[in-house]
Amino acid sequence: MKGKQVLLTGGTGGLGSGVTPAVLAQGAEVTISYRNPKEVERLKDTLPPTDFERLHFIPANLEEEASVDNLIYRIGKVDVLIHLVGGFSMGKTHEYSFYDWKREFEINLNTTFLTCKYSLKSMLQHGYGRIVTVGSKAALEPSGQLAAYSAAKAGVVALTKAIADETKGTNITANVVLPTVIDTPTNREAMGEENSDKWVKPESLAQLICFLASEAARDIRGAAIPIYGNI
Ligand SMILES: NC(=O)c1ccc[n+]([C@@H]2O[C@H](COP(=O)([O-])OP(=O)(O)OC[C@H]3O[C@@H](n4cnc5c(N)ncnc54)[C@H](OP(=O)(O)O)[C@@H]3O)[C@@H](O)[C@H]2O)c1
Repeated sequence: MKGKQVLLTGGTGGLGSGVTPAVLAQGAEVTISYRNPKEVERLKDTLPPTDFERLHFIPANLEEEASVDNLIYRIGKVDVLIHLVGGFSMGKTHEYSFYDWKREFEINLNTTFLTCKYSLKSMLQHGYGRIVTVGSKAALEPSGQLAAYSAAKAGVVALTKAIADETKGTNITANVVLPTVIDTPTNREAMGEENSDKWVKPESLAQLICFLASEAARDIRGAAIPIYGNI
């Protein structure tokens, strides 16, 4: 990814804390979209200042089309999109609010659609692109109390495969990774640490994402890759 323009969304989140240094280590120019400036400062505190000249931050709400359009315009050219933004909520279907149902689709599926749409415009212009999206094991194996999340992540898989099909015959690829529980501070707080050694480490998921985002992965299209740790 040396010299490539990478748009990394959700780079300030739990998974982002593993993916951001891994992408920087590949020599890429990285733009991270964010909403919360405090999370930007927290992330920067974990990185060597020598990385800062290849690291840019642009505020954007990826649920709004104009905001995504403006984000891509400000970056100028996108070679690689790594879209980590997503969210999670659970509840029994008969008790689950329609508001929360729509929120799951907004944050997981609609943000993926908008960032892919505007990144693809740039990639098609330049004849090069790598798109990596994040689904979940729940997209393939939905379980109780996860209807909205599972359906939205299944949508992410479908969208990514459709893009891979549309871009056949070009040097643009799209693939999706399917983690189970990721070892993030939020999950440790919510579920305790007893089983955390079985969870997927952000750093190991980052290695898979970086490979799919690299020039070397030119022949991998429309793959939905499970990364389940020891669960
Ligand atoms: N954690 C898990 O166990 C797990 C398991 C399977 C799949 N996943 C998927 O992996 C991905 C990363 O998860 P994570 O645990 O790192 O999540 P996270 O810690 O909650 O981070 C989410 C990131 O997305 C950003 N974001 C949220 N809504 C946004 C919006 N509307 N516009 C712009 N940015 C927005 C947040 O930025 P701000 O803080 O600035 O809002 C944050 O950087 C998600 O797609 C998630 O569904 C996670």
